[in-house]
Amino acid sequence: MARIAVVGSGYVGLTTGACLARLGHSVTCADVDVDKVARLRGGGLPVHEPDLDGIVASACAAGRLRFTDDPAAGVDGAEFVYLCLPTPRRADGSDDLSSVTTAARTIGPHLEPGAVVVTKSTVPVGPSHRVVEALGRADVAVVSNPEFLCEGAAVADFLRPDRVVVGSTDRSAARRVAALHAPDGVPVVLTDPVSAETTKYVSNAFLATRLSFCNGIAALCEAVGDDVDDVLCGMGHDRRIGHDFLRPGPGWGGSCFPKETDALLAIAADHGFDFRLLRHAVEANREQFDRVVDKVTALAGGSVAGVRIAAWGLTFKADTDDLRGSPATEIVRRLADAGATVCAYDPTVRRPPRGLDVEIADDPYAACEGARFLVVLTEWDELRDADLGKVAELLAARNVVDARNLLDRDELRRLGFTYRGIGRS
Ligand code: UDX
Repeated sequence: MARIAVVGSGYVGLTTGACLARLGHSVTCADVDVDKVARLRGGGLPVHEPDLDGIVASACAAGRLRFTDDPAAGVDGAEFVYLCLPTPRRADGSDDLSSVTTAARTIGPHLEPGAVVVTKSTVPVGPSHRVVEALGRADVAVVSNPEFLCEGAAVADFLRPDRVVVGSTDRSAARRVAALHAPDGVPVVLTDPVSAETTKYVSNAFLATRLSFCNGIAALCEAVGDDVDDVLCGMGHDRRIGHDFLRPGPGWGGSCFPKETDALLAIAADHGFDFRLLRHAVEANREQFDRVVDKVTALAGGSVAGVRIAAWGLTFKADTDDLRGSPATEIVRRLADAGATVCAYDPTVRRPPRGLDVEIADDPYAACEGARFLVVLTEWDELRDADLGKVAELLAARNVVDARNLLDRDELRRLGFTYRGIGRS
């Protein structure tokens, strides 16, 4: 079992560190955020992620997982050092690498001779050499091991990945990194660093494009009077297409898809390639937000000014508390900008997100009181199972725009609702 340090204890770093400890390695997670580290030491988690709390607690109890707010000390004695730092988007769409290079400069002098540094942070295709330069150590190997963790299923994704991609000019270091956590039978792709980084960007760009295509099919179904659920089900049975990632919705979002599609467009443009298909997929996604708003506006008779609206869900998808790049908050923002009063309920949101003009209700029913519309934006199970009879009693008018096709439309119609889904005529 290996001695491992993980620098950056956010969503990716904490999942990586806890799961590596679960596999039996000895792990130190470091973060410069003193409050976050104090919270982790006290058993609190900075993110909502199913199963992560149990894994962190048992790894800490077994003495295989510890936390420090001093990254330089954290890498002491480590054979492998994972960099799991944020790479936020700059105004021009490119990724800002400064957290990664700053951390690399900090830990460089403290690395064990022969250590392997693993970049999990999504670093733009090509400039991984900046990490090497910032480390300033010719005697350590640098390996790119992009993460493909889905929020809400990150632990399962780490422990049972579809594939493990490792890129390095040092094949032996790459093999050792794969051996740390790739379960038997899981495909391992050993490649060069640029190809590993590109794999991450294009996988997400492909999935985002697929979803924009699905949402396009939904719009087509509405226009011609088909039912999108049947159409996508028929499509998905083609083994080459499959059923996963084929659900229409309010648009795609999250911490990865919007940022990485923009970054890939910037990378392509820098290299003289106009990736038009991807550009259109990104534009189509913004139009999807508008389409949801348009459905509400049309039902309201052309304007939502002064109209009270209940919004169910604010996170970018269910089973996460992450609001980054959320289609739900984008749609709420547009409705509020158009003059609506929006009262939202989300199981993980207790106060209005910064900069968003929205009231927050304590439960789904309180959000509906006196509202003329219910707009469903995130596919939480709790909302799927809601008592629609009670909702009907609380609303001032029985109108539902279900941007996730989550609720039982037959039941809603029986209750006298005017219903609009996505891709349903
Ligand atoms: C994504 C990638 O899936 C993961 O591999 C990567 O490394 C990080 O980015 P995540 O951001 O957790 O993971 O979200 P994901 O589950 O992929 O969903 C992205 C968006 O697509 C969400 O807004 C979601 O609601 C939407 N979506 C997903 C749909 O609208 N329909 C679907 O069928 C699937």
